[in-house]
Amino acid sequence: MTIQVKPSGLALGAEVVGADLTQPLDDATFAQIRDAFYKHEVIYFRGQTLSDEDQIRFTARFGELRKLKLASQPQVDPEIFVVSNIVKDGKHIGSYDAGTLWHTDGAYLAKPHAISALRALEVPAQAGRTLGDTNFASTSAAYDALPQSMKKRLEGLQAVQSFAQHLVKTGGGGVKKDVYAAAKADPEAIHPLVRVHPVNGRKCLYVTEGYTARIVGLPEDESRDLIAELASQCTRPEFTYRHNWQQHDLVMWDDCSTQHKATFDYPASLPRLMHRTTVVGAPTS
Ligand code: SIN
Repeated sequence: MTIQVKPSGLALGAEVVGADLTQPLDDATFAQIRDAFYKHEVIYFRGQTLSDEDQIRFTARFGELRKLKLASQPQVDPEIFVVSNIVKDGKHIGSYDAGTLWHTDGAYLAKPHAISALRALEVPAQAGRTLGDTNFASTSAAYDALPQSMKKRLEGLQAVQSFAQHLVKTGGGGVKKDVYAAAKADPEAIHPLVRVHPVNGRKCLYVTEGYTARIVGLPEDESRDLIAELASQCTRPEFTYRHNWQQHDLVMWDDCSTQHKATFDYPASLPRLMHRTTVVGAPTS
């Protein structure tokens, strides 16, 4: 298979053209895609009419998949997490408010998610434009741009990443409560504030408005101010890429070196349906 990688020209993001993910990929093609992924942090494929099995087969080549299917979700494979605003028989069929805050998936777990892959089955559209974009930010670019004095200050610091805080901040109910119940044994974890990427060795800021509750060992006000400063550093416009979804897109992001936020600019009457698979990460220390 001959593929082409087209960088967005921004701090992160690239389109991979020419791949047919309905077919098993040969090792050379997969290696090219993997390299592009770890270089550009977010990659996307257009026009992939995949089944769940295709998505699972392709993304499992990056590592072990986490089984995240919720009790409240419809009959899908255990590796599929449904993100959707669709209501059937009075119940949401998936997580309808995922991504209201900037966050990185699974930060509250001892082994946080390494990679997420989201596939668009239905995308809301109005007046010829698709809605519900996802914004991504490169936390490696954000780290690189810090002054030396700040890099020095961050050395050795660790932060508590908390699902409970996320739930409170989002006023979470519904599906989020199910996610919380599933994570109950492990609802928060301590990770370095600056992570060294396990594959490419880049340093990344691991701090988000959604999950980062406090910095270990700092007084409360100093911790709060530093979290706010670093979280806004990460999402400065020059470190972001905004993905405008088309039906049959598959977008993959690196959960160590990026964070993301959804855009809720579509009415409830327009269905949005995404299936996510998730690669388990390694412990951070
Ligand atoms: C997520 O936060 O995992 C979902 C993002 C989106 O639906 O745009």
